[in-house]
Amino acid sequence: MSTVNSLRSSRTLFPADFQWGVATSAFQLEGSPNADWALWDPVLGDLPQITNHYALFREDLKLLKDLGVNAYRFSLEWSRIEPRPGEWDEEAIAHYQEIIDILRGYTIEPMVTLHHFTHPRWFLERTPWHRFASVEKYLRYAEMMASTLTGVRDWITFNEPYVILIGGYLDGCTPPGLRDIPRSLAALKHIFTCHGKAYDIIHRYVPGARVSIAHNMSVFAPWKKWNPLDRLLKNRANFFYNHSIINAFRTGVFVIKFPFSRPVEIEVPIKDTLDFFGVNYYTRIHLRFNPLKKMGVELRYADIDGHGLTNLGWEVHPRGLAKVLRYASGLGLPLVVTENGIASHDTEEKVKYMKRHVDVIERCLKDGLDVRGYYYWTLIDNYEWLHGLDARFGLYKVDFKTLKRTPTGAASYYSYLIQSRTSL
Ligand code: GAL
Repeated sequence: MSTVNSLRSSRTLFPADFQWGVATSAFQLEGSPNADWALWDPVLGDLPQITNHYALFREDLKLLKDLGVNAYRFSLEWSRIEPRPGEWDEEAIAHYQEIIDILRGYTIEPMVTLHHFTHPRWFLERTPWHRFASVEKYLRYAEMMASTLTGVRDWITFNEPYVILIGGYLDGCTPPGLRDIPRSLAALKHIFTCHGKAYDIIHRYVPGARVSIAHNMSVFAPWKKWNPLDRLLKNRANFFYNHSIINAFRTGVFVIKFPFSRPVEIEVPIKDTLDFFGVNYYTRIHLRFNPLKKMGVELRYADIDGHGLTNLGWEVHPRGLAKVLRYASGLGLPLVVTENGIASHDTEEKVKYMKRHVDVIERCLKDGLDVRGYYYWTLIDNYEWLHGLDARFGLYKVDFKTLKRTPTGAASYYSYLIQSRTSL
């Protein structure tokens, strides 16, 4: 106890109730035989239960307690909860309720993500997002969760809705694997309609709830500053990724400008449907015009500031976090960094990444930005979607043969960081 107190600072800018958290998603830890992704990726054939968190969750939650975090963001696996349309799996619901109860017992605030990329297979087969019927299906699930689970104040309706749209409807690399602009726009309308309506549903059942999405904001730069086409792409990407969504939460209208085409306006019932804004931030992306690529866009990363590239090749660019937080502050809402982390086998790189980004938040607080939380991605190594099992984001390393969890130096560093920045 005396060590903890000696680390605490009376000069830190982080408020006493700042949310120091860790973020995870269900499917990435526990898989699910009924999820669309289980069919999508052959890697999962060898390790369908991934880290087997579904069975080992009590031990894993104990790791959170050991870290000393006061918040934990995790997702519900919809395909476990509603394996067949309208059929609710009581055991799965009780499982997630137990997670919440254990967290509460540890005085760790749960933040529940309703949708983190995966769907029940039946949803994908019958009512994928471009179909209007998807709205009713999601809302039925959201209402079931909001009315059944107890002890949850913080809710995320969707993790990275733009990734669902780009991966599933423009690039085709994630389910449903389409490359179809009109359908992508229909899907956008349905997903954000779900957010707007789920916002009301959650508030109806949970007094004092705080609801948001987690949007992955990015910093974009032209690959060659002198190239007007690279600069045009950068402006378009920035407009789409960072501006259009924030603007839509202010006005209820998305203005979408695809490269080299006319703007499209889409009305959605999301005006004033955020209690805070969740920002996932990882990297800066350079854009290069390349007529051989889809929509003429090529994404590139480069180690411009000398902070290095992660194991996924992403640029480490801490300053960008300040940039996106400043931009998001235009919403006039509390901001929460709902994800930030690095894929690396090297503890020192993880520690540096974390420290640099937390330092940036501290400077943002000094500048008067209302940042309320930081959630490190992620607790233990997991399944990293298109990159399989090689991207090591965990504070704890997982041996995927034995499933043994071993702390990396970044785990003890995070504990230290939390203690040293918590106000007396
Ligand atoms: C985010 C996503 C997470 C995780 C992380 C690291 O975009 O929400 O599920 O994969 O990236 O790449």
